[in-house]
Amino acid sequence: MPEPPLIPLFDIRLSDDEVDAVAEALRSGWLTQGPRTETFEREFAEHLGVRHVVALSSGTAALHLAYLAAGVGSGDEVIVPAITFVATANAARYCGATPVLADVTGPLDPGIDPADVERRVTARTKAVCAVHYAGYPAAMDELSALCGDHGIALIEDAAHAPSASSRDGSRKLGTLGLTGAFSFFSNKVLSCGEGGALATDDDAVAALARSLRSHAMTSGTWDRHRGRSATYDVTGVGFNYRMDEPRAALLSARLPGLEADIEARRRLVGRYREALRGQPGVIVPYRDEEVGVSSCYVMPVLLEEPALRDPLRRLLLEDHRIQTSVLYPAIHEFSAYEAAGLGPLPQSELVARSELTLPLFPGLGEDDQDRVIKAVHEGLSQLG
Ligand SMILES: Cc1ncc(COP(=O)(O)O)c(C=O)c1O
Repeated sequence: MPEPPLIPLFDIRLSDDEVDAVAEALRSGWLTQGPRTETFEREFAEHLGVRHVVALSSGTAALHLAYLAAGVGSGDEVIVPAITFVATANAARYCGATPVLADVTGPLDPGIDPADVERRVTARTKAVCAVHYAGYPAAMDELSALCGDHGIALIEDAAHAPSASSRDGSRKLGTLGLTGAFSFFSNKVLSCGEGGALATDDDAVAALARSLRSHAMTSGTWDRHRGRSATYDVTGVGFNYRMDEPRAALLSARLPGLEADIEARRRLVGRYREALRGQPGVIVPYRDEEVGVSSCYVMPVLLEEPALRDPLRRLLLEDHRIQTSVLYPAIHEFSAYEAAGLGPLPQSELVARSELTLPLFPGLGEDDQDRVIKAVHEGLSQLG
């Protein structure tokens, strides 16, 4: 029998208009940060309902600048969840600070647990970073109150969550804290390959981020090209975290389709939830109301029996040609973090061992999705 086609974890298809927008930028004669970057910043700020968006080279750069803008420096602590991409914690180390890991709530909500955050606050805590895991809102009300009480900055890692909303649906995620950090990495909900952005309502934070993304120069190359400034001063130690024009053009071309993409993801998530929540041995996190405000970045499920997770992943790939992933290994179990002795973090460890991320992208066909659902069902009965 011929092998069935591979179902990828994620796939991206660009429209002709999107490719044309990049080609137009390439032909324009101006490749680095310039007018298209400014246009995208305005469009995304309007989309989010926030005063400022600063486009950057990556989500990691956005987190670094977000922490610096919160005043994080040497000897400070930043509380981040143990279940996140490592950038959330690494960016604190770039500032000379110590990332302190908080546990996540548990298999039904793999987001940061505010009660555990509260326990970990010390006199050195400068910021808390809430990750909107899988595009679902973190417990922002509780975290805002807690950070307000302690005088700590609240940063949002909104890498998974462009256009997702707060639990009550009233505000876009990434606009609730001091800053929101977005990623436009290839597999993200709004993607351009490599890119990121910082969103904020705070004028001074935006000015600092704009300055630091380009070596704290008082004018940029684009300003000088337009004859707006002959020379420049350097007022601090900044970075090269600039976005370039082809990527900005691609983001502007893709932004109008973002809501439709999320709607397609949401419909697929609804089908997964319907099919999998009755499946013995499978835990489907989050509530249906939360799906309604989520960007539905990925489809996480957790296995009641963690020992079955890796054999099931192998079986899905080898017997059914279905790619899956794990979001995420727990940070304190990476070699680069192990020595810091940041554990135990029991709920994070449980999530890290039992989570399985299933294929999800706007163009995933229902037939392929049904193949995934059937394979999970058969795989679990085979292994169980
Ligand atoms: C939760 C989270 N934070 C931060 C990042 C870093 O973003 P980037 O890859 O654009 O640097 C990512 C993306 O991979 C992410 O998933």
